[in-house]
Amino acid sequence: MIRTRSVTDDMIWVGAGDRRLALFENIFPVPRGVSYNSYLLLDEKTVLFDSVDQSVSRTFLENVSASLDGRSLDYIVIDHMEPDHCSVLEELLSAYPNAAVVGNAKTFVMIEQFYSPLAEARRVVVRDGETLSTGRHCLKFFTAPMVHWPEVMVCFDESNGVLFSADAFGAFGAMAGNIFADELPIQQEWLPDMRRYYANIVGKYGAQVQSLFKKLSGLDLKTICPLHGPVWRTERDITWLLEKYTLWSSYQPEEQKVVIASASIYGNTEAAAERLALELAGLGVTEIEMYDLSATHFSYLIGEMFRCSHIVLSCPTYNGKIFPPMRHLLDDMRELNLQSRTVALIENGSWAPMSGKLMTAELAAMKNMTVLEPAVTLKSSMKEEQAGQLFSLAKQIAGGLKRSL
Ligand SMILES: Cc1cc2nc3c(=O)[nH]c(=O)nc-3n(C[C@H](O)[C@H](O)[C@H](O)COP(=O)(O)O)c2cc1C
Ligand SMILES: [Fe+2]
Ligand SMILES: [Fe+2]
Repeated sequence: MIRTRSVTDDMIWVGAGDRRLALFENIFPVPRGVSYNSYLLLDEKTVLFDSVDQSVSRTFLENVSASLDGRSLDYIVIDHMEPDHCSVLEELLSAYPNAAVVGNAKTFVMIEQFYSPLAEARRVVVRDGETLSTGRHCLKFFTAPMVHWPEVMVCFDESNGVLFSADAFGAFGAMAGNIFADELPIQQEWLPDMRRYYANIVGKYGAQVQSLFKKLSGLDLKTICPLHGPVWRTERDITWLLEKYTLWSSYQPEEQKVVIASASIYGNTEAAAERLALELAGLGVTEIEMYDLSATHFSYLIGEMFRCSHIVLSCPTYNGKIFPPMRHLLDDMRELNLQSRTVALIENGSWAPMSGKLMTAELAAMKNMTVLEPAVTLKSSMKEEQAGQLFSLAKQIAGGLKRSL
């Protein structure tokens, strides 16, 4: 049974969604599922752009076969070798024995690593900036190293302005019929999962995303076809998307907002974080987000930290160290290159509070983090006499947010 949609008059979305997957990459929760996008161009030559994860291989192979409608497949373009896009490659190669694989030198090394070497006759090696004509269409390839993996490239169709963008511009979430951004509630439903996807998957590589933008800067992008999530095809949506990516890849906050990352064993540190939230609210700050780190997957916090200008880290001491859920979060903040945020700290300890000092040291290893002074230190629980200290932190945060109030 065919389950496809046309993207242009001769190019078809032949991807599929997986709503059963609990953890993408076996680490990121995907309660809204995930889509694996693949596209088929029916020109004088037929071209398949990337493929899918094995979980949806059956739907995908049926879609490709039905869309080819008896024609042979001439090319398989591999923009990205990660298994979520390549685990059906061997089946494709045997189902379509005349198809040649288009990739760069690094692509073929990875094919050999994951699978087996590909015969010379089936390889079309392209370099940065090279083109391939398929009849009416001319495809231009741009390498995009580390816009997730080293072998990544994107492909621009010069004849109609379609960009096959690999993992860039992707999102968590499976689509249902409506595959185009202009058909979907992007701001309300999709943006948090777009941001969480970007921050956690590509966030570390902001500089590489910016280099890719430079390469693409002269191009008239009419449609963006990523490997996950919605397809972008209106000028308004594409402008909005590029603005978001410009902010994310340069580690600038999207909003003047506060996110409170609360770690707590018994609830005393959490109580102080809550009091800080109340002080902030009293100063007119709205939309304060607070998450319990033991109950919330770190990927959601990372997403929120890419969004918000101000961060509160609130955490007890644990065996002389930072309570582990906060340690994990700080590791990821550093790993993903998060930078240029203002951070307030609340620490706790019943005999030798250390978490504040240790969190400050972790933040010092990140770029351009402003830590508000002084951190609030609790000895087991917050006493009303300390309210002034929290109020002073709240005032500093609210002062920094003033522009948007
Ligand atoms: C396993 C464990 C290890 C701890 N290690 C330390 C420590 O090294 N230094 C310290 O001052 N407090 C330590 N504590 C005590 C907590 O940091 C302290 O009770 C704190 O007030 C708990 O805050 P909470 O109510 O937000 O969980 C430890 C507690 C636990 C359960
Ligand atoms: Fe990837
Ligand atoms: Fe991917």
